[in-house]
Amino acid sequence: MLTLQNYKPQQFNLGGLTGISDQTLEMHFKLYEGYVQNTNVLTEKIAEILKDGKIDHEEMPAYSELTRRLGLEYNGMVLHEYYFGNLTRNGAGDPGQGSDFRRAAEASFGRYGIWKADFIGVGKMRGVGWAICYQDPTNGRLSNHWITLHEVGNVSGFTPLLVMDVWEHAFLLDYKPAERPRYIEAFFANVDWQGVEKRLRGGTRGPQKRVGST
Ligand SMILES: [Fe+2]
Repeated sequence: MLTLQNYKPQQFNLGGLTGISDQTLEMHFKLYEGYVQNTNVLTEKIAEILKDGKIDHEEMPAYSELTRRLGLEYNGMVLHEYYFGNLTRNGAGDPGQGSDFRRAAEASFGRYGIWKADFIGVGKMRGVGWAICYQDPTNGRLSNHWITLHEVGNVSGFTPLLVMDVWEHAFLLDYKPAERPRYIEAFFANVDWQGVEKRLRGGTRGPQKRVGST
């Protein structure tokens, strides 16, 4: 029998963050693991439909729904890896003067402070989703984007550099729903700017390279 490649949840050593409790992280890791599991389950179900090499007319509704759901689960898995992967308990708040990220932000926005105001502004937008700073690999330019749920708004081919989860589950144990700005402040206190700068240079999204085949 054919064994398909599978995903395994990555492990993130993130206790003791500033303003984001261990309790929140534990709950959030469990949610992330659910996305990994659902990605594998949906992939297997789609493979089951495809194994005879065709999609029958009566299979089309189920196939379509599974494929749409896979977009949510896949992006949920990957974005959480970027998110946890750009946090550290030794965060520095802002990137250093003259750092690669700061220079890229200045080239794209004029000043780092303007980039930051835009990123935070995106993060405060109403709705559930993500604020993501991407880099256009064709010219190095940075831009900030709002991603609805996990899959609507990602720019194809752009590289995510800084990924901030602003679903309420990311902060509801620590802050009230209306206190999202305080969570965003806490997020910045924990950003791993060295890790973010590795992404500028084509690094991986998490602390380790994905190997997850079973
Ligand atoms: Fe999340």
